[in-house]
Amino acid sequence: MIGNSDPLATQGSSPVDVRPTGAALGAEIRGVDLRSIGEAEFRSVHQAWLDHSVLLFRDQTLQDDDLIRFSRRFGDLDIAPVQETGRRFVEGYPEIYVVSNVVGADGEPIGSLGAGEAVWHTDMSYLPQPPKMSMLYAIEVPPAGGETGFSNMYAAYDGLPDALKRRIEGLQIKHDGTYNSGGYLRQGVTATDDPRTSPGAIHPLVCSHPETGRRNLYLGRRRNAYLPGLSLEESEALLDELWRHATRDELSWYNRWRVGDLVMWDNRCTMHRRNPFAPDSRRVMHRTQVQGQSRPAA
Ligand code: SIN
Repeated sequence: MIGNSDPLATQGSSPVDVRPTGAALGAEIRGVDLRSIGEAEFRSVHQAWLDHSVLLFRDQTLQDDDLIRFSRRFGDLDIAPVQETGRRFVEGYPEIYVVSNVVGADGEPIGSLGAGEAVWHTDMSYLPQPPKMSMLYAIEVPPAGGETGFSNMYAAYDGLPDALKRRIEGLQIKHDGTYNSGGYLRQGVTATDDPRTSPGAIHPLVCSHPETGRRNLYLGRRRNAYLPGLSLEESEALLDELWRHATRDELSWYNRWRVGDLVMWDNRCTMHRRNPFAPDSRRVMHRTQVQGQSRPAA
């Protein structure tokens, strides 16, 4: 885990201080207050995000307005999905999604995903046009656990054996919309564990990033994923093989959260997961998502 290790180097000509993690993806940006970031700094942050896929900003002091204002600089925001409990939104802020295990005064969780593991996934890839970016801001963090890991899907594709690359060329994948990454049934969806019939969008299995042009594996979530045109047995076997490649430790970087951390990731070329933490500790994170401008394409 690399969360609190010293980043390796500063990049040369950028007006912001970019410190790559030294892992397969991710960089920390130092010396930037996201409440008042100027245009030149913003352009560098944007480029660093394309270069490193995940950015960490420590020691931020953001209200929901600040988080929304910074997020909007990257594009229009999605309205947050309904949480597992049926609860909607932070009052007055429909763009904010709460990830939390905390139970409110009414006895209901104030957010989603509880305190358990969140499995590897790409946000909302079961939609025809998933968000291009997610931002997660840490308001309360547990003393241990709850780290979020990110995995580099460019490297996952690049590292595939040539025979496997040829085998998956032109294939599509159905991204299940039944369960979220905590294993909870989504609101308004009927439970099913048949990957062939479960609801969800179909995307190319190998996508080309619309801004960098680089090719990446686009796996979404393992549960109920399906490769149309293959028998269920063939689909399961091929997906298992791809997932073994895509979730190797050397492709990932983990953030060990501190209060005031903001992490933003490129949802088109990364997956992420979360470690479990003690249910009697508190973790409160606010998330925004920036709309994708196009459907994932080969
Ligand atoms: C998520 O999967 O979007 C949330 C990750 C986290 O809770 O760290």
